[in-house]
Amino acid sequence: MKRLSRLVFFASLVASGLPLLGGETLREAAGSHLLIGCAVATRDLDDPKLAALVAEQFHCITPEYDLMPAHMVDDAGKFTFDAGDRVIAFAEAHHMPVFGHMLVWHFVTRQWLFEDKTGKPLPREKALANLKSYIESVMGHYKGKITAWDVVNEAISDKDGEYLKDTPALRAIGADYIAKAFEFAHAADPKAELYYNDYNIEQPGKLEKTVRLIRSLQSASVRIDAVGIQGHWLIDWPPADMIGKGIGAIAATGMKVMITEMDVDPLPRDSSGANMAQAEKGANPYPHGLPPEMQTKLAKRYGEIVTEIVRHPAVTMIGFWGTHDGRSWLNDYPVKNRTNHPLLFDRELKPKPAYDAVNTALKRLP
Ligand code: G3I
Repeated sequence: MKRLSRLVFFASLVASGLPLLGGETLREAAGSHLLIGCAVATRDLDDPKLAALVAEQFHCITPEYDLMPAHMVDDAGKFTFDAGDRVIAFAEAHHMPVFGHMLVWHFVTRQWLFEDKTGKPLPREKALANLKSYIESVMGHYKGKITAWDVVNEAISDKDGEYLKDTPALRAIGADYIAKAFEFAHAADPKAELYYNDYNIEQPGKLEKTVRLIRSLQSASVRIDAVGIQGHWLIDWPPADMIGKGIGAIAATGMKVMITEMDVDPLPRDSSGANMAQAEKGANPYPHGLPPEMQTKLAKRYGEIVTEIVRHPAVTMIGFWGTHDGRSWLNDYPVKNRTNHPLLFDRELKPKPAYDAVNTALKRLP
């Protein structure tokens, strides 16, 4: 009941006649215990079969990149909402909540927000004014349509001994740029749920820094409702119990937890997560499809992880990062032009053994 009450905000989904428990689709298997979502791009909506699969299988969607700063506003400060509006229209037609991704991310942004044309940090007050105005413009446009935002993405450093990534926002404003972004977001839409999103924060090192960040926002009386653990995991790392410990530590701060970008990479890779700064060598062993033994291994891994995740009542959403294998960012990361197979549906939109494993694990929801 506790978990159900925490999802009151999503009660409208239940009201829309979704089956409560059991059933074959992912969202039927999850029922009203937690939301099952996926990342969707406007290009997905151009494919009627794919759009139908999204509407059938998932409760909610996250625009994969259409709401990223660099796609929302140009170098002259002109906003374009068309792509995001298309995703919203699709979601509204299917009564699906939309998770806004994201307001602040150093990797896909516009230089003028925090730097001058030479790359020098802007004065703090000017950078704060730009940040406030950007958040007001985007959240103002989507007020009432997007009711949960990933306010800041990937601010915590991967480096031992360094708390926050050295980003243009940090250099121009200082460490409180994160708190300011949350303050501006709450003022822009007081009804919106606000969360912090990052990769590998379920693992020692970044986990401690994440708890530190949550505590600092809480002590500054900044509204933060949840933490998004992205969940870009490998076929053999991190262990499921480590993921569980990380969820537990974040939940102990009072945060809801979401797995926001889940995929499991069956191809060989040196490190987990999505550190876009790193480039690695990368074999391409399965260009013509994942062999049966790897399908089985992938299914087992997905089943173990989701079984662990659903043990935690603080988890309110599991989102998969993409619709099918052909759409995954992992076809081009950490090296370009690999043929990857990290999701639950193959390139022909057929459910893989990993889909069955997740469906079974979801049905274990208490
Ligand atoms: O396909 C369009 C093309 O038609 C258009 O002309 C072009 C204009 O820029 O954009 C193309 O889309 C690109 C898209 O990938 C598909 O290839 C976008 O530019 C590009 O920004 C987008 O990259 C996204 C990436 O974040 C941004 O670096 C990926 O889709 C997305 O999966 C990836 O997701 C990130 C999360 O946001 C944060 N966590 C890590 C995760 C993986 O990097």
